[in-house]
Amino acid sequence: MFLALWSVKGGSGVTATAIGLAVRHAAEGEQVLLVDLCGDLPAALGLAEPAVGISEWIAADAETSALRRLEVATSVPAVRLLPLGSAEETADVHRRALFASALAEERRTVVVDVGNLHAHPARGGLREAVIADADRSLLVTRACYLSMRRVVRHDHAPDGVVVVREHGRALDAGDIERLIGAPVVAQIDIDPAVARLVDAGLLVNRAPRTFTKPLGRVA
Ligand SMILES: Nc1ncnc2c1ncn2[C@@H]1O[C@H](COP(=O)(O)OP(=O)(O)OP(=O)(O)O)[C@@H](O)[C@H]1O
Ligand SMILES: [Mg+2]
Repeated sequence: MFLALWSVKGGSGVTATAIGLAVRHAAEGEQVLLVDLCGDLPAALGLAEPAVGISEWIAADAETSALRRLEVATSVPAVRLLPLGSAEETADVHRRALFASALAEERRTVVVDVGNLHAHPARGGLREAVIADADRSLLVTRACYLSMRRVVRHDHAPDGVVVVREHGRALDAGDIERLIGAPVVAQIDIDPAVARLVDAGLLVNRAPRTFTKPLGRVA
């Protein structure tokens, strides 16, 4: 299973949700590759910033087998990270497509933190290539009307929506499904304990069940 998670607004919860999904699949006995197209995953996983990653691989002419050597272990043995790296983005359409097809051919569960579609326009081509090849393209959003309007106007129609719920929001799952035209596959309640674990880089080790359980229906 190859899942691509994205948002249309910064701070929606994509990175936290990607980690939650990785933890959930690992708990079910799967090997998981977490892929970072956004740059926040090393910090959120409590890891040092890797020196090289996906962007260096795209800028070079390395084989797809070389991607394995860029992977970093996390504190959960079944979860490995493919970091973004820090090379300037290149406009090489062929390399982007090759990268996306390498993820599609993975035997492990692949969870990609695609990030905010409106951030870093130079990375837009890579994001689109990855979303196009994913089995499931998933929007992560707060139950926020202004975010919904952006999705409706945006080209990408998700296959499913993960809603990160603040207390007291007026929009419910039915409203969101009607606005976006895709099913709500998970609803996660905002939990200050989750925010603290993200800040401490410990979510992958200590994700509460109240956070990972609703993610069971996503794949
Ligand atoms: N379920 C949750 N409960 C509480 N806080 C959360 C939850 N999910 C995310 N957060 C917090 O909200 C903030 C944004 O989350 P996160 O970094 O996952 O969003 P993002 O969509 O990846 O943001 P960015 O656009 O910056 O990449 C973080 O401080 C995080 O700890
Ligand atoms: Mg993020």
